[in-house]
Amino acid sequence: MLIFDAIAHLGKMNNEKERDFHFARNTLIMNIIITGAGKGIGAEVVKNLARNKNHHIVALSRNGKALTELVAQCKQQSPECHVSPYEFDLTHIDFYPLIVQRLASIIPRYDVLVNNAGILFNKPFEKITVAEFDEIYNVNIRAPFFLIQAMLPMMNKGGHIVNISSMGAVQGAKKFAGLSAYTSSKGALTTFTELLAEELLSRDIRVNCLALGSVQTEMFANAFPGMKAGIAATQMGRYIADFALTGHHYFNGKVLPVATTTP
Ligand SMILES: NC(=O)c1ccc[n+]([C@@H]2O[C@H](COP(=O)([O-])OP(=O)(O)OC[C@H]3O[C@@H](n4cnc5c(N)ncnc54)[C@H](OP(=O)(O)O)[C@@H]3O)[C@@H](O)[C@H]2O)c1
Repeated sequence: MLIFDAIAHLGKMNNEKERDFHFARNTLIMNIIITGAGKGIGAEVVKNLARNKNHHIVALSRNGKALTELVAQCKQQSPECHVSPYEFDLTHIDFYPLIVQRLASIIPRYDVLVNNAGILFNKPFEKITVAEFDEIYNVNIRAPFFLIQAMLPMMNKGGHIVNISSMGAVQGAKKFAGLSAYTSSKGALTTFTELLAEELLSRDIRVNCLALGSVQTEMFANAFPGMKAGIAATQMGRYIADFALTGHHYFNGKVLPVATTTP
């Protein structure tokens, strides 16, 4: 009996140590990269994460000017924050090995990768061109797929990859005419999440997918003119920031709907 008690006690100590370790990582320092950070939800995620001056954040988007403004806003709210802007077009997949080298020079190892960049064309199925289809699939599924692949050697054990998808991509959820290319690309991202979580178990990296409902951003306003989204970008940014830091302690390989309404 005694030996079992001792083992149980040791197990408890290990669990406590592990909890303390994760608590420290969550509260003290996380190295984070987020794509699509120039505007909308991604910019709000960065602002939320930057409130903790100990996090190191790389904010990636095509729009360098928007990123400079974002960094200034973050500095205004938290002068000692660490936000590094990174201007890059994610459709240039051939350059990923190069950008990964550059990312490694900014922060050598990462704990969190949020694949948030996305594009949407609201167009009838028969009018979608091959170029539009390719652009949507390049940004919404090929980019996260190959960015994760390129970044894996730099991801810390215990890390978290968060893929941002859409409610429409959840099986059985309401679908919308005009979104055949967009929603099917997000469907690929949700399935990919489930598969990758399994494959990365041995590396102790967890992968989850947030399937968002409508959020008030430029993308939403352009896609559904005149409609009001269920949630503000600031609110969603706060939720995703929290989830990126802590969600992997509770979920792995999950596709989680985050929606009050869908448009
Ligand atoms: N808003 C919604 O209702 C809603 C609902 C469900 C899911 N989502 C998803 O949430 C994510 C964020 O959406 P949002 O509403 O915040 O959209 P948004 O305001 O249009 O912002 C999209 C971001 O993605 C970036 N991006 C697009 N193409 C890129 C490329 N080739 N390379 C690098 N960055 C690129 C944009 O960068 P630039 O600044 O360079 O343009 C921008 O920062 C997307 O994945 C979207 O599909 C949104």
